[in-house]
Amino acid sequence: MEKKILLTGDRPTGRLHIGHYFGSLINRVKLQEEYESYILVADVQALTDNFNNPEKVRKNVREVVLDYLSVGIDPNKATIYLQSMIPEVAELTVFYSNLVTIARLQRNPTVKTEIAQKKEIFGESVTYGFLGYPVSQAADITAFDATIVPVGEDQLPLIEQCREIVRKFNSIYGDILKEPEAYLSNGKRIKGLDGNEKMGKSLGNAIYLSDEPEEITKKVMGAVTDPKRIKKDDKGNPDICMVNYYHNLFSSKEECNEVCSECREGKRGCVACKKQLANNIIETLRPIREKRKYYEERPELVDKILIDGSNRAREKAKETIKKVKKAMKLDYFEN
Ligand code: TRP
Ligand code: SF4
Repeated sequence: MEKKILLTGDRPTGRLHIGHYFGSLINRVKLQEEYESYILVADVQALTDNFNNPEKVRKNVREVVLDYLSVGIDPNKATIYLQSMIPEVAELTVFYSNLVTIARLQRNPTVKTEIAQKKEIFGESVTYGFLGYPVSQAADITAFDATIVPVGEDQLPLIEQCREIVRKFNSIYGDILKEPEAYLSNGKRIKGLDGNEKMGKSLGNAIYLSDEPEEITKKVMGAVTDPKRIKKDDKGNPDICMVNYYHNLFSSKEECNEVCSECREGKRGCVACKKQLANNIIETLRPIREKRKYYEERPELVDKILIDGSNRAREKAKETIKKVKKAMKLDYFEN
């Protein structure tokens, strides 16, 4: 039986952190065993709101690929590719842009939220490219006949928009494209070290997969704890402490029980509690850090993975564009 096709990816705008790890990366590593997986580094999409900073996007392409490899996305199982190396996706985007109205894009909740957050780059009027990125994302997905798209909840409106484009296309040109389904990563959303609901680069509250042990320790030392605790024998409330929250992700069950009971009884110092957590995070991330180093020291190998992946991806996208152009009567000199 043929494997189902899975496609997902990230905009290369920064290194990946433990929020990405628990939220999506662990899942991708598991799913690569079961599905024909395409993982895209969405550099073209990253430019839609970073067009004035191409250097940032370029630099982060490598960081994101290193992060993928370090967590165990296996280039022999999954195809890791660069969006800009698949011109067929840009072609599809142009064709699909006739099938979606401006009003519909403006109503897309994801796009709406993002535009509101990006006033400093867009001012009062958003670019055509940014408004249209859901169309390009629909091209990303359909170019590979992907039916499974693992994403976070924030991306659901984009998948819905893609499904609408597919239905419209198929109703006009014939049954060519596959309608994808979102696969909600059952991973959890990780709060930031400061207690913010979201871990993010711009929030300065993230632990990166590539952080060195000293950095991890420094960040954990600055995490938000129960503010009422001044002295070690003050009785604390671990439920409002980010250190305890992270112990639950990185420490053993016994350790977690100990943290909670000792904290409540005023028998645990916050500094020691943080040191213990920092060590556990450092140990958990050690294999990831080591694997990252391995690839960092072999840039030609990373290049090769990305080139091979992109070539493989392109072959697949070429099959799709051929079918699409035929259906759209654009197959002029083919026989
Ligand atoms: N929009 C996604 C993000 O911001 C990245 C992305 C681009 C994507 N194309 C995709 C995700 C196709 C899933 C499928 O992270
Ligand atoms: Fe948080 Fe640990 Fe301090 Fe309790 S002892 S407040 S869990 S850091």
